[in-house]
Formats: sequence, structure tokens, C-alpha cells
Amino acid sequence: TKADLGVLGLGVMGAMLALNFADNGKFNVGLFNRTVEKATRLKTDNPDLAERLHPSETLEDFVASLATPRVIVLMLSAGSAVDEQIAQLQPLLEDGDIVIDAGNADFNDTRRRNALYDGTGLHFVGMGVSGGESGARHGPSIMVGGSAEAWTRLKPLLEPIAAKYDGSPCIDWLGTDGAGHFVKTIHNGIEYADMQMIAEIYAILRDGAGQGAGDIGAVFADWNTRGLSSYLIEITASVLKEVDAETGKPLVDFIVDEAGQKGTGRWSVIEAQKLGIGATALEAAVAARCVSAARAMRLTAAGIYDDIPVESGVFGATAADIAELESALEIAKIVAYAQGYAVLDAASKEFGWDLPMGEIARIWRAGCIIRSVLLQDIMQAYAGGAKVENLLLVPAFADRIKAGQGALRKVVAKAAAAGIPVPALSSALAYFDDLRRARGAANLVQGQRDYFGAHTFRRLDRDGVFHHIWPEA
Ligand code: 6PG
Repeated sequence: TKADLGVLGLGVMGAMLALNFADNGKFNVGLFNRTVEKATRLKTDNPDLAERLHPSETLEDFVASLATPRVIVLMLSAGSAVDEQIAQLQPLLEDGDIVIDAGNADFNDTRRRNALYDGTGLHFVGMGVSGGESGARHGPSIMVGGSAEAWTRLKPLLEPIAAKYDGSPCIDWLGTDGAGHFVKTIHNGIEYADMQMIAEIYAILRDGAGQGAGDIGAVFADWNTRGLSSYLIEITASVLKEVDAETGKPLVDFIVDEAGQKGTGRWSVIEAQKLGIGATALEAAVAARCVSAARAMRLTAAGIYDDIPVESGVFGATAADIAELESALEIAKIVAYAQGYAVLDAASKEFGWDLPMGEIARIWRAGCIIRSVLLQDIMQAYAGGAKVENLLLVPAFADRIKAGQGALRKVVAKAAAAGIPVPALSSALAYFDDLRRARGAANLVQGQRDYFGAHTFRRLDRDGVFHHIWPEA
């Protein structure tokens, strides 16, 4: 018997996806990896699924082992590895075959690869997969891009392996070419913002309120029962409560404070900038990871500025203090999601995808890293295909923001007074304040632009475009 589909690239994510196909889909899965042993080992290591796992030793055998028209899932490191693999596969494929890139690809690459397949009779599908290792194995959230025709064929293969929310699979076709990978990129930008804002609250509790990791973990565990309930808050509580086996002290206190990043968060803000959308909380989160990574320089700076200590007594840890932080985080999180959605909306128009915004919230409710109860509310905001210019303009969110913005303001102000950096929280607040300001300060920027570059400006009291003859400086 031929395999129902093939998985190529059996690193952690690829291996887990292959097992998921065999287990939850009951599919026969062809396996291929450049290091052949990885494919054979996956079979021997999983005796309960072995009858449905079919490793091949060569790329030719792998392709030949698949039922036609074929479905091949690539799970490779983003970049040139994908291009090389596509080139190697090309002569072996036939009309109707579908190649899926399930890695974290730059959507610009996905668009380019789609164009490459145009007119060949082959289909290229860029598919965002979220949920880390365990998600890939037991049910990720899946964001599919590509042709509608490819989706019709893929749906029965992919739905069984996707996460389920109230029984419905967290997967959908979101649009042509790079739509799936673009949405995954913005998912990751929001993921970065979410993580950074949680870390900022942690810093306040640690450095401002003098709380230990275990106690802070308990705070997050409590928050996880309400409005902030989410996977990231849940794992934050677990990370903070974890004790180092050797020392008996909180493990988190031993972890070097340098954040890594593989690129997707950065891409999300690059694309936001290209589209002319201010996604400041996402930007701040990416930048904060960059600053964190310059640890040696930070240590030098800490020596130079050690006479400016963190002000004690600004933050406390009473129930009221903790509730204020909870509200602040909730509001900032809504702002970050609103920014992410604004980028999606702009991209949808720019690339002609017609992204189903409510549907994106629906498929993010389970399986993915940013799954949270907030997504249920976002889904509701788009119910019935409602057109939303910005989530902060939706009455249900406006009510919540009116109730909680004071807390965010106090937390940001206190953090500034104490000397605790909260770049993502403060960016979220500034964005909100900018957004709700009928008369901004860009009139002055326009005056400056016109002064030195004759860039012209418009007037409030008259139609038309004006250039003023300014006095010489
Ligand atoms: C997911 C995650 C995942 C992410 C990696 C690495 O949705 O499962 O977003 O795909 O890319 O965890 O992210 P960084 O190394 O950039 O933090």
C-alpha cells in the first residue's frame, strides 16, 4: 500500500507531526530525512504506530512510496534548506502533487515559491503550525495558505491532526499564497508581546515588590483562572514554581537573562512597518529581546549607573497592588492583540487575501502558543463578518479598556519612577493614548517637514495642499 502522505524533515517538529498523522489521523505516513537513521528510528521508537510509519532511504523511494496525487509535508529550517528541497523534489513530482511547507517560513519566500509553482500543475502550500513540540504531536493550530483547490484535498488529511476546541478543529484555509505563513508570523509577533509583557510584570514583582519566584508563580497561577487565562500565563506560573534539583532554589533565578529569537517576531514588526501599521507593543518586545541579548554591555552599564538604584517602596504586593498589575496586563494585552490584528487587516488588503479575521481568532483558541480566553472575545468582535477597523473601537473592548486603563497608567508611571523598564506595557499605553487623541502632535512634524524639505501640509480650515515660505533658520 502507498502512504497517504509523506513527511520530509524529521527534526523534533517534523517527527511529532508524522506521529500525529499516524496516530490521530490513522494515516499511512511516508518518512524521509537526510540522515536516514532518523526516519528508521522514528519507526522503531514508536512500535504502537510502526505499521503506519514507512521510512524511505532515498528521496526517490520516498516520493514513489506516496499515493498519487501526492501530499508532501516539508518540516525544515526556514530558508535555503526549503529552496534546495523544493528543487530536488521538482523532477520527481507529477501533476496535482501538493508540497506543503509547514515550517516557520518568511511569507515573502512562500509567495515567491508559490509563483515558482504557478503553471506547473503542482501546488505549493505554506502552512503555519503553532503549538511547539507537544502541539505538533497532539494537535497544533494550523494556518493554511495556498490555492482553494489544494485546501479541498488537504482538509480531510489535516483536520484530524489539528487541535480541537469544543470539538471543532483549529485549522482553516486563510487565503492564497503566503496568507498562512503571514498569519503565523503575526501570531508569533503577538506571542513575543505577550511573553514580554508577562516578563515585565514579573520584573515589577521581583525588583519592585521584592517577591520570590515561587510567590510570583502563585500570582500568575491565580490570574490564570480569570480574564488573563492563557497557555502563556499557565506555563509562566510553572516556570516560576520550578525548583532547581541541585540547589533547591527557583530554577528561573539561575537562567541567564538573554532572550533568543529565531526571526518570526522580527518579521512581524518588519511587515507591520512595511504596511504602515504601528504595532508598538510587538516592536518593543522584539527590541527588548535584542537589548537583553547584549548582556555584557548591560553589565558594564550597570557598573557605570549603579548609583541609580531601583526605587524601593514604589510597588507593593498587597491584594490591591496585585489586582492593579492584573488589570494593567489585561489592558496591555488587548492593545497588543489589537495591533496584531491591525497588521493582519492591512496585509489582507495589500495582498488581496480577504483574511477571515474571526476565523483566525477561532483557530487560535486551542493548540497554539497564544491560546487564551481573550481570543473568544476577539472572535465575537468579528461575529457575523463584522468589519472592525481596530479592536480598540469595538464597544465590548472599549468598556474593558475604560475600566482598566487607569491601572495600566499607574503601573507604567510607577515603573518609570522606580526605574524598572516596561517597554511593552508602556508602548501599549502610549499607543492607546495616541489612538484616542483627537488632536495629535503630528501637525508640528508636518511643519518641520515642510520647513526643511517643502514636503507640504494640509490645513484644518481649508482644502488643498500647502507649502509655506518659512523664515530662514
Ligand atoms: C509556535 C511558536 C514557534 C516559535 C518557536 C521559536 O507557535 O509554536 O511560535 O513556532 O517559532 O518557539 O520562537 P523564537 O525562537 O523566535 O522565540
